[in-house]
Amino acid sequence: MKEKIDALFAQAQEMTAETAAELEALKVKYLGRKGIVQELFQDFKNVSAEEKREMGQRLNELKDAIQVGLDALKERLESKTSQSDATNDLTLPVDFSDLGARHPLSIVRNQICTIFGNIGYTVAEGPEIEDDWHNFSALNFPPEHPARDMQDTFFIEKDPDIALRTHTSSVQIRTMERNKPPIRSIFPGRVYRNEAISARAHCLFHQVEGLYIDENVSFADLKQTLFYFAKEMFSSDTKIRLRPSYFPFTEPSAEMDISCNICGGKGCNICKGTGWVEILGCGMVDPNVLENCGIDSKKYTGFAFGMGIERITMLKYQVNDLRLFFENDLRFLKQFEKA
Ligand code: DAH
Repeated sequence: MKEKIDALFAQAQEMTAETAAELEALKVKYLGRKGIVQELFQDFKNVSAEEKREMGQRLNELKDAIQVGLDALKERLESKTSQSDATNDLTLPVDFSDLGARHPLSIVRNQICTIFGNIGYTVAEGPEIEDDWHNFSALNFPPEHPARDMQDTFFIEKDPDIALRTHTSSVQIRTMERNKPPIRSIFPGRVYRNEAISARAHCLFHQVEGLYIDENVSFADLKQTLFYFAKEMFSSDTKIRLRPSYFPFTEPSAEMDISCNICGGKGCNICKGTGWVEILGCGMVDPNVLENCGIDSKKYTGFAFGMGIERITMLKYQVNDLRLFFENDLRFLKQFEKA
């Protein structure tokens, strides 16, 4: 009997099962009511009194060893089937946890395009590497204007005529050169300025330019269009005010403020207690600019406006540091996933 038990110990070590049915068969064979272990317990009755103690112990150990072996086989079988289920079952839902989201600047740019798209504005783009004519001269910048200075503009080495555009107003010129009025378009894009990077300034940022040219376009049209934009972008109770300003390419020119969207105009630290925040520059296109593009300034008038996308986004989402838009820190970006 001792030899039989020893042989079974060895067999128990070598049990294998590829399927649940094979596993079940092993269980019946060894531990079933008519199984091998049960048979041995029958034989045990005939064991001599001196051997009973030792044999009883060995027999129980064998039974436990077989049970442990069967449990291990069962576990291996289960983990194998769940793995292959997951890889083979194409109907299981996909794990979307790492799906990206739109950048806040893209969200706001798209909103601006939609708001103006709803009142008939088309979207156009222009090159980021510009010549002096489109970025400055055609826009009525006098030759000695400080914006042409090296401190503001990134010029291409060896050619003072070529620079990274400092504003999207250059796309106005390209559009007017190529199209006859009526023109009603907005121009989103990147712009570059040679500025020190801080919470409020960057050497790269984004603007959206707007242009409307037709017969009898007036300052009242400009004001009404921008009022509509402010209400759509922020909230329906937003107020606007226009302050006289100066840009070489518009006459008259203005800067537009909106009632502070944080405190509702009562005064807070975002609006520095004034109740107003500046969001864009605008004005009636200077007749010189129209003529520079071959448009008859006696027949046509128009307005233009330009805004920084970062500025609008910072106000809308209360972001207090411009650099956050360019660092791609997921802790920042993830906050806009549902925006
Ligand atoms: N180009 C100006 C800037 O970068 C913004 C601007 C002001 C655009 C007035 C306009 C405008 O079209 O009419 O600061």
